[in-house]
This record gives sequence, structure tokens and C-alpha cells, in this order.
Amino acid sequence: MESKQQKVEEFLEKDRLASLGGGQARIDKQHESGKMTARERINTLLDPNTFVEIDKFIVHNCSNFGMDTKRFDGDGIVSGYGKIDGRLVFVYAYDFTICGGSLSRTNANKIVKVQKMALKMGAPIIAINDSGGARIQEGISSLAGYGDIFYQNTISSGVIPQISVIMGPCAGGACYSPALTDYIFMVKEKSHMFVTGPDVVKTVTNEVVDKEGLGGASVHAAKSGVAHFVGETEEDTLMMVRELLSFLPSNNIEDAPFIPTQDNPTRNNEKLDELIPEEPSKPYDMKQLIEEIVDDRNFFEVHAAFAQNIIVGFARLDGRTVGIVADQPAYQAGVLDIDASDKAARFIRFCDCFNIPIITLEDVPGFLPGCTQEHNGIIRHGAKIVYAYVEASVPKITVITRKAYGGAYIVMSSKHTGADINFAYPSAEIAVMGAEGAVNILYRNLTDDEKKKTVAEYEKTFSNPYRAAELGYVDEIIMPSQTRMKLIQALDMAQNKVRSTPAKKHGNIPL
Ligand code: HXC
Repeated sequence: MESKQQKVEEFLEKDRLASLGGGQARIDKQHESGKMTARERINTLLDPNTFVEIDKFIVHNCSNFGMDTKRFDGDGIVSGYGKIDGRLVFVYAYDFTICGGSLSRTNANKIVKVQKMALKMGAPIIAINDSGGARIQEGISSLAGYGDIFYQNTISSGVIPQISVIMGPCAGGACYSPALTDYIFMVKEKSHMFVTGPDVVKTVTNEVVDKEGLGGASVHAAKSGVAHFVGETEEDTLMMVRELLSFLPSNNIEDAPFIPTQDNPTRNNEKLDELIPEEPSKPYDMKQLIEEIVDDRNFFEVHAAFAQNIIVGFARLDGRTVGIVADQPAYQAGVLDIDASDKAARFIRFCDCFNIPIITLEDVPGFLPGCTQEHNGIIRHGAKIVYAYVEASVPKITVITRKAYGGAYIVMSSKHTGADINFAYPSAEIAVMGAEGAVNILYRNLTDDEKKKTVAEYEKTFSNPYRAAELGYVDEIIMPSQTRMKLIQALDMAQNKVRSTPAKKHGNIPL
């Protein structure tokens, strides 16, 4: 019979081997390719010494195609829980050193187990992906595993924040778990996502493209909008995940953490009195405005490279998290198009799921005209912003800094779509359309001189905030320098907001 000492030694040796995943040679290979191992990533992400690993000794039970000789403890997933800034999170990471991190039936069960725990405990879950996809030797069992993960992603959506970090390959159906989560992080030149890889693309469409060009971080951050954040390195990316979580509550029944600030809530923003140019068609950078008003100039931008005509991201006002949605006059005049609509609508819905008030900063000339936009469904996509704003029951505060024209006026959190407080600067222009366009439609046959006069008259009548204020569509006209203070006052007023809507299973957002 084994002595107690032998049993301890046996355990320690088993544990040491399990910690090596697919073995030292494969760990070395992972390092040589410039990547951390799954456990290194988790330990970098979490507060020091807080990771508790579960299911470390799980092994698969497949014996097809020689798999009985390829059994490693843990089976390609490292999972468990730990802390970020002292708050509980659940985490799982694909271990590329074991069968290329491919998904087996067994390690899918491991993933589903932590997904269910995260949901039950009301804590965020972070998935770190680095995988060759379905474990080919297991066939349909592996596909079933993906299905179970997608199911749990969907059930958890809107209850706990779900974050995906792509740190290697993520191909085929494996892309759909990240796609079902709230935020996707990628690492520059190290991570790739595609439904079908370059070889299949070549066979089917004859396009020649490499992995980076097809589904690298910059493609997904700027073109497809699949990725919300891109880190320079793995460490940098994991630090961004920590920062994102600092803005979020752990679940849908909590509020985001309060982070005390030395930044005075009544601080004047004198710079803003000069920011909006005299000339209405001249651009200015809305990010300067955002940074000027938020606590400690700290704005955590989401989707920074995608649809830059609209800006979304998190900040704090007097210690409390807000979601900011802002038109960007410095990029395509801040016009609303399909991508901007999708970007804003998804962000608004995320904020609403997690009790984060929404601040809208508006300077928008309208929706982008043209066949490309119409044929690709700007009507369908633009409707998402309206839907998202109306549906959002969190406090909603709007500031019209300059242009608020036409349909874009209505959709950008106007009084009519349920905003709680609407401010306008004296420079605001709230009208159906710009004066020249209006006169060209109404008085087509006037001489140039007559047109000039009529444009001036139209501008005098509508290119200001007073008509809207007379009708109560703007609650208050404020000086730009008062913006921070006014927003904080409004948020304070609206913090216990209750709104009732008819009971329903769920609405039918135009997708
Ligand atoms: C089983 C796999 C695997 C997989 C990789 N491996 N992918 N084992 N199933 N899907 C194994 C390799 O055999 C190898 O084992 C080890 O992992 C490392 O792989 P390498 O190819 O040596 O690494 P690298 O050169 O870095 O290339 C990584 C890779 C490549 C780009 C991911 O392995 C690859 O293309 N794999 C297949 C990807 C794929 O087509 N997956 C789709 C599966 S179908 P040894 O023992 O030799 O070290 C799918 C559908 C899901 O995912 C649908 C869900 C709804």
C-alpha cells in the first residue's frame, strides 16, 4: 500500500505534468511563435495568485485515429475562476499545446461547466481563443460541443458580460462563440478569424488572400467590425480586457463599480466654448469634447477603427460609468451610414443590458445618400438605432452641439425616442435639412440673389436651437463650458429612473 508521502508525491507529479499541458516541447514551440501558453495568459489577465483551476485532470475518451495515444490532462482547455481588480470573473483558455487547442466533446463540457458557473454566480466570463477548431478525430461529438457553447453564450447574453480574446487561429464555426459574446479582442498579427480559410476561399471564389488579409486583427477592427479592440501584444490586449471590465457591472442586476475621482463635478469646460467652429461645415474633433468633459480625461473607446463617423465607448462622470455615443464631424462630417448604425445600436443595447446610462453627443448632417447605402439596406440598419434608443430604459441624456438634421435628429436620442434630458448649445441647428437644400427644393426657380436671401431667412428661422426649445424638444440651452456639470446633474436626477413598457417575450429588432 502506498504511504501518505507517496500519495502526496504522486499528486504533485501528476499536477506538475498536467500544468505542462501538451509538454515542454510544445510549450517551447508556442513561445517560439511569440505566443504565451494558456496558463500564462490567464495569470497575466487575473490579479496575481487568484486563479483557481478546475477540471485540470479531465481527459478525452476518444480512441479514433490514434487518439488513445494522445491523452493529456486538461485536454486542451484551462478553465476556472479568479479576480480582476478584486472582482470575481470566470475564465477559460484554449491550450494550443494539446492537439492544437482543438475542441473535443470533453473540453466542450469543461467550457459549458464554467459558463454555467459564471451565469449562476453572476460574474463576467472571459474566453481566450487559440484553437484549430473542431477536433477532427471526434467528428460530430465536437460539433455538438460547439452547439452547447453557443447555447450557453446566448442564454447568458444580457445577464453577464461575455468577452472573447482571440490570440491565435479561430476558424470555422469556432468564430460563432466569440461572435455571440459582447466584445471581441484581437492581437495585432497574431490572431485570425474566418469562417472559411484562404485555401477554401481560393477554391470557391478564386480569390488569393493570406490569413492576415482575410481575417487578421486590422481587417476585423476596421472593415468587418467583428473585433472591438486590437492590442499590440498579448500582454497589452489582456490589460485592455481588465480596463474594459473596470467600467462594467458583474451582471445585469448590479450597477457598474463606483470609482471615486478628484475631478470636480462642477468643473468648467472653457475650452469647449471655442471648440465648435464659426463655419457650420468646418469639422472639429468630437473626441476632444469627450475627453474634456469626462472624469480625468479617461475615455475607453470601443470599435475605434470601425465606422469612425460615430464614436462609442465608456467613461465616467463623477465616478459613475456612462456609455457615450457621439457623432464625429471630423470623419465624413459625422454622417450616419450602415456601419455607424450597426455600431451605435449594438453599443446602446449593451449599455441598456448592463444598467449603464447613455450620453449622446450629436452633430449629424443626416443619413448618407446613395445607391450603395440604399441597396445595402440603410433603411433596415438605420432603424436599429431608433429601436435601440427607444428600447433602452437606462437614463438617456443628449447634447446637440451643432447639426441635428432630419431623420438623424430623430434617431440620435431625441426627446421623441425617449431621452430624459436634451440639451443644446447656442450653436445648435435643429431642422429638417440644411438651409440650402431646403431652399433648392422649395424655391427651385428663384434667381441666385433671391435664393441667397431665402437661405438666410431659412437659417434664421431654423438654424438655431430656439424653435426646438419653444416646443419643449430641447429642455435647456447650455453653454458648452457647462457640459460636464449639466450632464452630472442630469444623471443624478435620473438615477432612479423607472420606465414601464408592455410585457412581451422580446421585441423584433430590425436585423
Ligand atoms: C485535431 C488538430 C486540429 C484539429 C490542429 N491540430 N488542428 N487536431 N483537430 N482541428 C493538431 C495538429 O494535428 C498538430 O498536432 C497540432 O494540433 C498543432 O497543429 P499544427 O498544424 O502543427 O500547428 P500550426 O502549423 O501552428 O497550424 C495551426 C492551424 C492548423 C492553422 C490551426 O493546425 C490547421 O489549419 N488546423 C485545422 C484547422 C481547421 O480546418 N479546423 C476546422 C475544423 S472543422 P501534432 O500532434 O502533429 O502536433 C470546424 C467546424 C466547427 O471547426 C463548426 C462548429 C459549429
